[in-house]
Amino acid sequence: MSQSLATVAYLGAAILFILSLGGLSNPETSRRGNLFGMLGMALAILATVFGPRVTADGFAWIVAALVVGGGIGLYAAKTVKMTQMPELVALMHSLVGLAACLVGFASYVDTSIQLEGAEKAIHEMEIYIGILIGAVTFSGSLIAFGKLNGKIGGKPLLLPARHWLNLAALLIVIYFGYAFMQAPTVQAGMPALVIMTVIALLFGVHMVMAIGGADMPVVVSMLNSYSGWAAAATGFMLGNDLLIITGALVGSSGAILSYIMCQAMNRNFISVIAGGFGSGAPKKKAADGAAAEPQGEVVPVTSAETAELLRDAKRVIIVPGYGMAVAQAQHTVYEITKTLREKGVQVEFAIHPVAGRMPGHMNVLLAEAKVPYDIVMEMDEINADFPQADVAMVIGANDIVNPSALDDPDSPIAGMPVLEVWKAKHSIVMKRSMASGYAGVDNPLFYKENNRMLFGDAKKMLDEVLTALRA
Ligand code: TAP
Repeated sequence: MSQSLATVAYLGAAILFILSLGGLSNPETSRRGNLFGMLGMALAILATVFGPRVTADGFAWIVAALVVGGGIGLYAAKTVKMTQMPELVALMHSLVGLAACLVGFASYVDTSIQLEGAEKAIHEMEIYIGILIGAVTFSGSLIAFGKLNGKIGGKPLLLPARHWLNLAALLIVIYFGYAFMQAPTVQAGMPALVIMTVIALLFGVHMVMAIGGADMPVVVSMLNSYSGWAAAATGFMLGNDLLIITGALVGSSGAILSYIMCQAMNRNFISVIAGGFGSGAPKKKAADGAAAEPQGEVVPVTSAETAELLRDAKRVIIVPGYGMAVAQAQHTVYEITKTLREKGVQVEFAIHPVAGRMPGHMNVLLAEAKVPYDIVMEMDEINADFPQADVAMVIGANDIVNPSALDDPDSPIAGMPVLEVWKAKHSIVMKRSMASGYAGVDNPLFYKENNRMLFGDAKKMLDEVLTALRA
């Protein structure tokens, strides 16, 4: 393939990636967006593999890598459960970071690249910054992977003087950056590059370890953004325009998503990154010095009683959370919605921006179950409507309906907007036990007078509710 044909193919791929992002911004066009993304990626891979820069010897290596990488990807896509998706995504981000580091070191020691003066300085700067972003992305994403799959606890690690440590790391990185750029030979520059890489790896670990449970969504989207910048840096090092464009698209859309997440959670972006949010300041003490416990009585209900409440309601708002994903209860939720609507009940869904374990998690599940988009509302659109609802049915959600976020300034999730289900005439929380959610915080909702608990696996309980509704 000639250089000009490869350039045209790259341009086509870049346009398809932009169309893909546009499509993914709306559930109704997201399938088309996905298709554009797949076509763009296929075109990009073909143009690269058959492009002018791949030699006959290199071809075999590339095919071998494609077979191994494609095989692992196919296996992961077939075996990974929907609930494990966020951790898989975090793991993928770490690979982008690792690739940026490896490409950086490879281009630094590549003797075929002979540059002088400003060109040499720019190339070395690309290497230094590329490895820096790559290393932070790599180690940060591995820790995020551990936190998301529960292998590493959700509690933030708060080292004493952590902000000073971060500042010291930044200054050391700048110092060694200067030393690296001044080094006359590869041998002389290598120690500075290695020291910076180690510091960047440690910084990535520290940054994500310092994040409290409920703030993980911001970190996940931020690492997504970093992985984009790492890919763009790789593109600069390799002189590959498509990689630069694709990396910049991922980097900027991840940054916008992080900003939206921060807004949704009422968090300051810089404070979340600096760490320590969600740290769980000491709980408010009661007058006698004991820690304040939620007050009231927990009232369990049966599925038949739940069906009764739903049947008598005029308006029902359903709040899905992570437990619905675990139980794979979305199809039954849809059947219940259909049955209630046939009976003339107004049913809507309230989606919290961080419900589940990845952005848009609930929207994807509900779309899969064919719930109509026009009854799926964002938090801001529906939160004020709970007082008009007869029943708010919470399915496997916990942190996103926790009133202590609004009432208790000492709560680790204080300030985070939540769905105010307790303002409905009745709220019903469906979960297996009194266990806390991802953020590890007690939920006073369970003790409220108008709240009922339907204990059990969400799928099993909803199947029973559906049977009772149809009887
Ligand atoms: P959580 O607060 O994690 O609560 C989910 C609840 O579901 C748990 O309390 C659990 O209680 C219940 N559950 C689990 N399996 C169940 C099953 N089979 N049947 C019925 N219930 C089940 O979830 P949420 O309310 O959706 O809030 C999301 C949390 O995750 C937030 O803290 C958020 O910050 C965090 N997070 C979100 C993201 C993104 S981007 N969305 C990423 C990382 C972290 P039982 O064990 O008692 O059943």
